[in-house]
Amino acid sequence: MWLSPIYASPLVDEGYDISDYTAIHPRYGTMEDFNRLLEEAHSRNIRVMIDLVLNHTSVLHPWFTEARSSTTHARRDWYIWHPGRKGRKPNNWLTNFGRSAWKRDEATGEYYYHSFFPEQPDLNWRNPEVKKAMFNMVKYWLAKGVDGFRLDVANMLFKEEGLTNNPAWALVSDRNVYNRNQPEVYELLRAFRRLLDRYPGRVSIGEIYVPPPGNSRLAASFMGNGQDMLHMAFDFTLIFTRWSACAFYQALSKYYRVLPGGGWPCFVFSNHDLGRAVNHYLFPIDKEKKAKLLATLLLTLRGTPFIYYGDEIGMCNRHIPRSRIRDRYGRLLYPFYTGRDKARTPMQWDNTSHAGFSPASPWLPVHRNYRQCNVASQQVQEGSVFTHYRKLLQLRRELPVLQQGTIRFLYKRQAGYLLYERTTDEKCCWIALNFSPFVRKVTGLPENEAMVVYHSSDNRRMCGRATFPLRLFPYEAVVIGKERTDRK
Ligand code: GLC
Repeated sequence: MWLSPIYASPLVDEGYDISDYTAIHPRYGTMEDFNRLLEEAHSRNIRVMIDLVLNHTSVLHPWFTEARSSTTHARRDWYIWHPGRKGRKPNNWLTNFGRSAWKRDEATGEYYYHSFFPEQPDLNWRNPEVKKAMFNMVKYWLAKGVDGFRLDVANMLFKEEGLTNNPAWALVSDRNVYNRNQPEVYELLRAFRRLLDRYPGRVSIGEIYVPPPGNSRLAASFMGNGQDMLHMAFDFTLIFTRWSACAFYQALSKYYRVLPGGGWPCFVFSNHDLGRAVNHYLFPIDKEKKAKLLATLLLTLRGTPFIYYGDEIGMCNRHIPRSRIRDRYGRLLYPFYTGRDKARTPMQWDNTSHAGFSPASPWLPVHRNYRQCNVASQQVQEGSVFTHYRKLLQLRRELPVLQQGTIRFLYKRQAGYLLYERTTDEKCCWIALNFSPFVRKVTGLPENEAMVVYHSSDNRRMCGRATFPLRLFPYEAVVIGKERTDRK
């Protein structure tokens, strides 16, 4: 279970602006509540990861209050300051939403750097005191028993020391040459990993922040040799991939190719920034079928699957009326960009008021489809997205091949379906996913003793001995298993 930030914060960026790294925001309860959550999760064999925002603090963090008070304060250098060049901003670096990343601070007349909102000043990781304070904070949570961290914008922690201007524009590549992905980040992640390795069984996943269409090579680079930096790195290429077997094949095979030896993959189709999977891929047409296909893909690929809350019932982005937009990006850029609230609406538990999320009125409106799309009704509905997630999760638990097996793509151009093989010494599995709206005949499967162990349209066909040639209905996903007989 990964929790997005729950720390004390003025909530300018829904908690990604932290004013105290070791306090819980009252909105989420108290430290006692957090301790209890951890305890109860652990007693059910659930591990808990928390979001680690190392790049910036809130302007209200006491470190920044001190730093901004005078140019000579001992904490001044904990942030990135510059007097400006000839009365102008220090350079042309921009925030993630295209505005200048420098803000002149009245108290001293100098500029400070902020990769995101001005209320989120970037820390100066070149100062060893910053590293010490942050690593102590990490130790605090590790000692408490948290099982891992999602490192927010891990690739942005260092900026080039000379503050060189970025290229004025770049059509095909990321123009953030000097304010992201600096060599020092790698060194820092190595040190972070050394710290984590002192506590058995803990994990790190880095968010590698790049503009569309993603960059799997860059993301993989922050895993070092696979053992000495991040355990996993989020690459958002698949989120920006178009809905076709060919495009998915290309993105996935590149992803696996660039992973360091011993590096462990991870996959994600939705998140709190980029919106929900069901909306990326030509939805709403056949959205349930596509949701099941995506679930099958996510839970049968080699790598750790990340399920964004609500995806397991096929929740969709919700249109947020202007008056109810909370995300500041949405308020600033409306109507060109309506913000990230669309995928942050309350979890749909049942068909009672506010979808059973809370008796109080939630801060974002519930999706209008909550009467049909909710956990309670999908739980008892054979063939629902939710029952499919459960089946797939159970299958993954029962078949170690789906967790540890190697992966090989058996893709044929123009076939319209994606086919891959997962193998261990004992077992083989084939996964066939029909991305097209047409019936497809799958070729290249072993024809004897193969069993269908899962298919996404089980109201039409039952699991059991596979019949060949295998036909896939539109958007259908099938998993076939077989004991290996070719073992030496
Ligand atoms: C990450 C978070 C995003 C946040 C930003 C700044 O990209 O996912 O929600 O706004 O970092 O912390």
